[in-house]
Amino acid sequence: MKVSIIGAGNVGATCADAIACRSIASEVVLLDIKENFAEGKALDMMQTATLNGFNTKISGSTNDYAKTAGSDVVVITSGIPRKPGMTREELIGINAGIVKNVTDNVLKHSPNAVLVIVSNPMDTMTYLALKESKLPKNRIIGMGGILDSARFKCYLSMALNAAANDIEGMVIGGHGDTTMIPLTRLASYKGVPVSQFMAADALKKVAADTMVGGATLTAMLGTSAWYAPGAAVASLVDSILNDQKRLFPCCVALNGEYGQQDICLGVPVVIGKNGWEKIVDVNLNDEEKALFAKSADAVRNMNNVLNETVK
Ligand code: NAI
Ligand code: 2OP
Repeated sequence: MKVSIIGAGNVGATCADAIACRSIASEVVLLDIKENFAEGKALDMMQTATLNGFNTKISGSTNDYAKTAGSDVVVITSGIPRKPGMTREELIGINAGIVKNVTDNVLKHSPNAVLVIVSNPMDTMTYLALKESKLPKNRIIGMGGILDSARFKCYLSMALNAAANDIEGMVIGGHGDTTMIPLTRLASYKGVPVSQFMAADALKKVAADTMVGGATLTAMLGTSAWYAPGAAVASLVDSILNDQKRLFPCCVALNGEYGQQDICLGVPVVIGKNGWEKIVDVNLNDEEKALFAKSADAVRNMNNVLNETVK
């Protein structure tokens, strides 16, 4: 199975490393526009094969899409990341041009690939890739909710002093500081609602910390995070290539589901070899439904900016 990753920067390279270390694919191609950058990262990673015990073949390419030919999955991480104080939305102008161009190039060589969109503002970039590629909607998946959910579970486990893997929780809606919706009501500690173990204020703080999880790291690192984003993309790719049918919150095209249409937004979906295979309808309460509608309005406004930018 072959995966190509466009953009060999922090997130792309970390994702390639996770895919190889977890033996998710037999071949990974990293592509970047910076001369020899992807080749260098690929060679460095290949030199960890005997140390990390993997057989995945990793190669790099400077903007030569022929090397990505026949990919089963293509991950798009090319673009500029956030700098401290920037929102994901402020990246729209530059990243839209990059994602549009990359999507066209990728599909010339891998017409049957499932596309995973990571570049920010991710919900709008996913919408752009859907419109630009004209692919069946199931083959376009935006990754943001898996990362936000991992952050949510991490903050919950710290607040509860519990093993992270005993926590379940999901974040839906947009991948933005004000648009994501940590579903605190449904989060559980080994199946028991977390509200039984923590005060409402503490739970609210976990939700608030989750929502600014990316900005917190951007302020600390001077650029946006990469370990958790790369690992989150690898888990998504694993479920596609190995037809695992994992249930992940992902950004997908809605056609009436959750009361929305003509938009790509984060909802729980089953992920398998065909991309996203089914949207799972969670019974949201009135407050959660209102938050979801507000999130959709914000993402739709962003999509309108996109329509003005990319004509
Ligand atoms: P980075 O700057 O480390 O890497 C981006 C790479 O893309 C650079 O190496 C650059 O040369 C390359 N690039 C730019 N234009 C290109 C083109 N036309 N073709 C091929 N490569 C191109 O940035 P980082 O940290 O890896 O972030 C990448 C993107 O992912 C950003 O937009 C960031 O905001 C987003 N992101 C999204 C997350 C999510 O959950 N959806 C999480 C973390 C980052
Ligand atoms: C993150 O959430 C900025 O989307 C990036 O870390």
